[in-house]
Amino acid sequence: PRLEMFVDSLPRTPLIHLLPKTPIEIGAYKITQKLHRDLPPTTLYAYGTSLEAATYPGPTLVANADEEVIVRWTNHIPDLSHILPVDPTIERANPRLGGVPIVTHLHGMEDESFYDGNPDAWYTQFGEKGPAYVTEEYHYPNAIEPAFLWYHDHTFGLTRLNMVAGLVGTYVVKSAAENLSPLPKGLYEIVLVLQDKQFFSDGSINFPNIGNAADVHPIWCVEYVGDTILVNGKAWPFMDVFPFKYRFRLVNAANNRFFLLSLNHPNMSFIKIGTDGGLLPRPVVQQQIRIAPAERVDFIIDFSGLPPNTTMVLRNSAPTPFPNGVARLTPESARAVMQFRVVSPPQAVKDNSLIPPILGSEAPFISEDFASRRFHLLEATNTSSNEPYALLLNNRTYRDPPTEIVRAGSTEIWDMINLTPVAHSMHIHLIKFHVSDQQPFSISRFTNRTCSLAFPYPDPRSCFTGPRRPPDVDQIGWKDTAVTFPGFVTRFLIRFTTQKGLPFPFNPTIGPGYVWHCHLVDHEDNSMMRPLLVRF
Ligand code: C2O
Ligand code: CU
Repeated sequence: PRLEMFVDSLPRTPLIHLLPKTPIEIGAYKITQKLHRDLPPTTLYAYGTSLEAATYPGPTLVANADEEVIVRWTNHIPDLSHILPVDPTIERANPRLGGVPIVTHLHGMEDESFYDGNPDAWYTQFGEKGPAYVTEEYHYPNAIEPAFLWYHDHTFGLTRLNMVAGLVGTYVVKSAAENLSPLPKGLYEIVLVLQDKQFFSDGSINFPNIGNAADVHPIWCVEYVGDTILVNGKAWPFMDVFPFKYRFRLVNAANNRFFLLSLNHPNMSFIKIGTDGGLLPRPVVQQQIRIAPAERVDFIIDFSGLPPNTTMVLRNSAPTPFPNGVARLTPESARAVMQFRVVSPPQAVKDNSLIPPILGSEAPFISEDFASRRFHLLEATNTSSNEPYALLLNNRTYRDPPTEIVRAGSTEIWDMINLTPVAHSMHIHLIKFHVSDQQPFSISRFTNRTCSLAFPYPDPRSCFTGPRRPPDVDQIGWKDTAVTFPGFVTRFLIRFTTQKGLPFPFNPTIGPGYVWHCHLVDHEDNSMMRPLLVRF
């Protein structure tokens, strides 16, 4: 259906302040919700404290740093089968009694592995549980730097469907220091959850039921993208703003779509203040922000000085697949995200906020005694159709024996060697890391074995085609998810300690363990995900 843009106002996600040690129930429910003025209500799965309170996206849970909270993630989805097409040939959570399995991961939290939303720890409303299920009452220590996290479903082989169906929400860790900072607050502090979907004219979600490598997997698609961009559950909303500074915490909750965001107004830019892992040392001014699935960005837009009735659009110029898709094939509908409209504030209301020149702490010293691991990011391609039917890390699936068994306290370099034609958004649970550098290499010479990555550039025996490049502006700061470009080796510098540099306050070897994976969730489901075990 053709829908008019900028006709619905931006909803604010409901805020829930979590109290220490007081369990709160957040359930997954089946709901209907209006996603655009002219679209009939859409059937969704959504999080909330009750059926009536459930929303897509779910509530923004707010916790204080260093105060443990307890969330009971319950499943109230009454369906026997999923609202979206399940591919029976993909290995997945497959309850004998039917029902929609869920398990929730709080992305960016340092937690015990039983509380991490392991893909095999799923459960249905009918009492059936996956092999790694321990509990649905999750304890989150919040012993991390203040940051913008998000939660979403992580069920084995079904994550892509549960996320498109609506099981996504946000989580903010605040500290006393941040509450005192002069950054924009309250009314001027906005969460933005971006997703794309495709709809049928009756309002239901159109998720393809014909795969691109149909002879192998009849339904699974390599990358689901929708032509409709939703922000906080409305298609292309508008937001009225005073000529003030606003702070936006934005998460790309799309399955596969990257965004290259800009403002179509000559004098406007983004003042980036934070990334996945919290505040940057200093603000960075950017005309454009790249954000891959599961990444977060914390930024200020300063609307001050703009006359009332000024409008501007938050635009997207990223092609799909990213970065080499044909930009001109991106429909106009996917090039607009939302609109801002400047309105006059009431007389007495002033903008008292400031952007401090010093924000977070500098990157800590990282010692040189690290181990390194190399990962080949691969496509398994169907010879008949030449379409990928699976994506793999070092040719292994999630079910192959664990190889990433790391020592708590150690620092490692992980080389992400991307041999595919698309960028991947790689996420590691439990820790945060830095992108140390990225370096171009020849995929064809590497695959033909006429060179080696063991030789440094510019040795003629080397596959590298250029020197190491420092991380680009969208890769700086603490990350838990980062972009790896095709034909590049991207190096992640990972400390397996807590964010505060202390030993983990728990024993992560007990319990189901952690995972790391591509956050293009159609890749993750088949089967670009590997176990991660931490030992002492
Ligand atoms: Cu945001 Cu393993 O996930
Ligand atoms: Cu991927």
